[in-house]
Amino acid sequence: MKDDTPSPHQSVLYQEIIDALAPHPDGFYIDATLGAGGHAWGILNAAAPGGHLLGLDLDPQALEIASQRLSVFSDRAVLRKRSYQYMQAEAHKLGWGQVDGIIMDLGVSSMQLDTPERGFSFRFEGPLDMRFGDETSLDAAQLINTASESELADIIWKYGEDRLARRIARKICESRPISSTLALAELIEKTTPRRANAPHPATRTFQALRIAVNEELKTVETSIPQAIELLKPGGHLAVISFHSLEDRIVKTIFRQESTDCICPPRQPVCTCQHTASIQVVNKKPIEPTASEKENNPRARSAKLRIAKKLILA
Ligand SMILES: C[S@@+](CC[C@H](N)C(=O)[O-])C[C@H]1O[C@@H](n2cnc3c(N)ncnc32)[C@H](O)[C@@H]1O
Repeated sequence: MKDDTPSPHQSVLYQEIIDALAPHPDGFYIDATLGAGGHAWGILNAAAPGGHLLGLDLDPQALEIASQRLSVFSDRAVLRKRSYQYMQAEAHKLGWGQVDGIIMDLGVSSMQLDTPERGFSFRFEGPLDMRFGDETSLDAAQLINTASESELADIIWKYGEDRLARRIARKICESRPISSTLALAELIEKTTPRRANAPHPATRTFQALRIAVNEELKTVETSIPQAIELLKPGGHLAVISFHSLEDRIVKTIFRQESTDCICPPRQPVCTCQHTASIQVVNKKPIEPTASEKENNPRARSAKLRIAKKLILA
């Protein structure tokens, strides 16, 4: 079947995900970050005539788009408005024990970035919201208008890796209250020198605020071990990340979970009793081809890491 639904989000590394999960008609799959349902569609199509998929997202608009798109698969697709940090509980509610494949396509979707009212982008005027869903209480406006200067500097430094974090935080505090995306972007632009061909100076601060508002890194860190546990022996976990902070977490957990002993290297006798539960499928992350990057510039920083659950004796 061909997916001819017009989509506000172009799925990144689409074929690579289908190849990684190799969906089959008896399989159970989780799309932890459903978005517009592009990857989910591909998984269900490849598993036809059988195969079941649980799709999770926090964003009601994404769920609406995905639900229409996946309606051709009727009850083979079950969608829930829930954070992927509860994927195990949601799978168990459906009576699923372990699953054959899980995809996590981290971060923000094009439709979120391109909707001014969501406040993710400094290209449009909008409220400083930046929440993935409507259940998180703290939005970006509340965060920047209430946090202390040192808290803001830490957020911009830790999650945006911006060396001008202190200067930006000071300027934000001097100019509060700030309630719109463009007001924040202009303030940062005035605070920091703009270099030719460099990204907009507000890029890193916007990334940092989004990560902080949605507690993204903490969620990735706690959810990957859960996803590994939820896999059947031989099942695959595929994670697409879009910046080095996320990729580092994925890489570190994959390395640890694919190693038997994780005692400090100088320790003469193992005391950790840790045993490997996965095999890392690709030592180096898979990146989009030049032609995918050209067709979809938002894919350019994507990195895909795949792990396979070990079949233990
Ligand atoms: C890059 S998009 C996914 C696009 C999707 N793979 C597709 O093909 O259309 C990431 C999605 O993850 C969602 N998301 C972010 N954090 C989440 C979380 N903790 N739980 C569930 N969904 C989350 C976002 O709302 C967004 O829709």
